[in-house]
Amino acid sequence: MATQAHALYPIGIVTVSDRASAGVYEDLSGPAILAVLQRWIASPFTPIIRVIPDEQPRIEAILRELADDVHCPLIVTTGGTGPAPRDVTPEATVAVCDRLLPGFGEQMRAVSVRTVPTAILSRQVAGTRGRSLIVNLPGKPAAIEECLGAIFAAIPYCIDLIGGPRFESTAAAPAAFRPKGA
Ligand code: MTE
Repeated sequence: MATQAHALYPIGIVTVSDRASAGVYEDLSGPAILAVLQRWIASPFTPIIRVIPDEQPRIEAILRELADDVHCPLIVTTGGTGPAPRDVTPEATVAVCDRLLPGFGEQMRAVSVRTVPTAILSRQVAGTRGRSLIVNLPGKPAAIEECLGAIFAAIPYCIDLIGGPRFESTAAAPAAFRPKGA
């Protein structure tokens, strides 16, 4: 138990962007995810960061690697969720997931649309692959905290249920909800 309490769990942060991966512009969304998770997750974790182009086979390969080889209990992607022809992150996520959790995407869109009408353009999904929870976020840095804030309360218990480590959240985080006794 003592070992587990001090273990550093890997969390995958995947930026999917042709331009950021080519160095045309700086990736701001991946670092924004890291900053939010560092503020909200009290348990020690190691970020595993990847920046890749909008290519479905590449995205699938990275998600499989982070889930199956690195054993990330949580993998958060950003970008490639819209309706443009090269936006394929949801397709890649669906292809690698064993099961989908539609409530995550529904909730993120429901919260985001209160501030930005184009939130309905995001096809973001979430699902599980083995003991990994994979969540898509849109590519805009401004969307990161808003979307994570919409779903964060359910993430620690979801990871419990799929057999991952017990994540504790900080006082700054949207209160994580675990049913009584969990
Ligand atoms: N959600 C939030 N919270 N904030 C945003 O600014 N942008 C929307 C939407 N969701 C946005 C958002 C827009 S303009 C698009 S096109 C889609 O996310 C898809 O973005 P992506 O292709 O960069 O993932």
